[in-house]
Amino acid sequence: MDLKQYVTIVEDWPKPGIRFKDISTIMDNGEAYKYATDQIVEYAKEKNIDMIVGPEARGFIIGCPVAYAMGKGFAPVRKEGKLPREVIRAEYDLEYGTNVLTMHKDAIKPGQRVMICDDLLATGGTVEATIKLIEEMGGVVAGCAFLIELTYLDGREKLKGYDICTLMQY
Ligand code: PRP
Repeated sequence: MDLKQYVTIVEDWPKPGIRFKDISTIMDNGEAYKYATDQIVEYAKEKNIDMIVGPEARGFIIGCPVAYAMGKGFAPVRKEGKLPREVIRAEYDLEYGTNVLTMHKDAIKPGQRVMICDDLLATGGTVEATIKLIEEMGGVVAGCAFLIELTYLDGREKLKGYDICTLMQY
């Protein structure tokens, strides 16, 4: 299946000059959503993963069906102030300013093989911060899966030494 035909390009959103890749038109098509999920499940099986981690909000949409299909757990990465128990935090740079991501400090057990799932690999800042959190808990980042990679932003550069799977490249 050519997944790109289900991605909607939205011109000048969220600001002028940006061509936003809207994946909601993958999700609202049952066959396309299942196909994308199945591709990531295959990858996760190869990497022998124990646990899935996804950054809010679209990482949940990608990671949760994979976790369900595999009978594995899912741990959320959330922006600061959203998780109710004790958290660990990691900061990352945005174009202007910084952002903070958090996870419950007991979300990953030492030695667990973890796959990070998200819709988009852009600059790689989100996944880099997520890797820090997982490794701080003693988890092993065994793979990272994304629907879309914006190759011109060079997110892969930040992920040297980690295994990455992207279903579509722009
Ligand atoms: C988007 C996207 C990824 C991240 C990728 O999330 O869903 O998580 O940006 O960008 P990066 O590789 O440059 O870090 P966003 O921060 O917009 O959050 P949202 O999913 O809650 O809208």
